[in-house]
Amino acid sequence: MSGTQPSDPSRAAASFLDRLTGSFLENVGGRRVGGPLDELAKRRFLFLTGKGGVGKTTVSAALGLALAARGKRVLIVMPHTKERLSAVLGTKPIGPDVAQVADGLWAVNVEPERALAEYGHMVIKVRAVSNAVFGNEYIKSFLRAVPGLYEWSMLGKAWFHTTEVDEDGRNQYDVVIFDAPATGHGLDMLRVPKVILDVAPPGVLRRDAERAVALFRDPTKSGILVVTLPEEMPVTETIELVHAIEKDLGMPVLRVVVNGVMAPLFTDAERASLLAHPELLTLEAATRAEHDRDAAAVAGARRALRETVQRDSLRRLLHSLDEPAIVLPHLFDEASTKEGSQALAAVLGAPEIAGR
Ligand SMILES: Nc1ncnc2c1ncn2[C@@H]1O[C@H](COP(=O)(O)OP(=O)(O)OP(=O)(O)O)[C@@H](O)[C@H]1O
Ligand SMILES: [Mg+2]
Repeated sequence: MSGTQPSDPSRAAASFLDRLTGSFLENVGGRRVGGPLDELAKRRFLFLTGKGGVGKTTVSAALGLALAARGKRVLIVMPHTKERLSAVLGTKPIGPDVAQVADGLWAVNVEPERALAEYGHMVIKVRAVSNAVFGNEYIKSFLRAVPGLYEWSMLGKAWFHTTEVDEDGRNQYDVVIFDAPATGHGLDMLRVPKVILDVAPPGVLRRDAERAVALFRDPTKSGILVVTLPEEMPVTETIELVHAIEKDLGMPVLRVVVNGVMAPLFTDAERASLLAHPELLTLEAATRAEHDRDAAAVAGARRALRETVQRDSLRRLLHSLDEPAIVLPHLFDEASTKEGSQALAAVLGAPEIAGR
């Protein structure tokens, strides 16, 4: 966030939230609502989805830190991705073994074949037999061909971690956050337990899939968070996605997270007067302005346009959905750092936030 103190994320959060009050919220049909963290902290399983590059991993990191700061033990599960979480949190690369990445926060990047072998071992119980089965190339290629099994190996592992308890009988992890792959894939993954219920014979796999589906569909224990940006296309796709999740999957969408929101610099009247000069928005104007004193006017007009697009898309989003939205700031120079995640975590943890 421009001009903020990385060392003081809560001040940065407060200043962002202050700038989003008043006419900004009136303009988009929003209002201040209670901070979302109390609600989110009650859930055992949170599934973050959204289009590629909208900030799912960044938001997972922020949410993990915010929940951990509330005293929760949080695990972030990534499904076999080229993970960026370690870069965001400034830790060692995150692999297939669960590793602690901050106080109260753990992460794992699931490797499907290995997860499947671990699962097989839990079912078969005799290590020598499960090694022989899951180490066998023929069986490996057979398993790769079973529809849904690889997705289940990742989602099922995430679910399994919600069931783990420590030696005192406490939950090993209070909240498991699943940082899903970009939209299409993410939803395919959520369909898998149901597919297993339809095709698998009675047995351990079926029993676990049943338990996972029951958890994922329970709005008091699970929730889907759809991450998006305050722009035209992402908002249109998000509205469609939220409806598809509710209709096709019967799973609760808890919140939409609008990431990368800029606190407006201009009033409506100022925006209107800047946008009354469309010539300022041409490519030519931008090139020319590098050399003359119109640069400020060109920059102002571009910013005004962006603020207008943001206002219109937020307004449309809030009108189209029943779920409240969480608004997170655009960070200018520290998004992929621990300080940036902490600044976003502070917004999530604020007692009030812009919503609906
Ligand atoms: N609030 C923000 N302000 C500024 N930049 C951001 C913000 N959130 C994310 N970014 C930047 O956007 C890019 C994509 O973020 P991120 O990797 O979290 O998205 P993603 O949805 O997980 O992507 P993918 O679909 O590839 O997994 C990164 O460069 C990140 O630093
Ligand atoms: Mg990601």
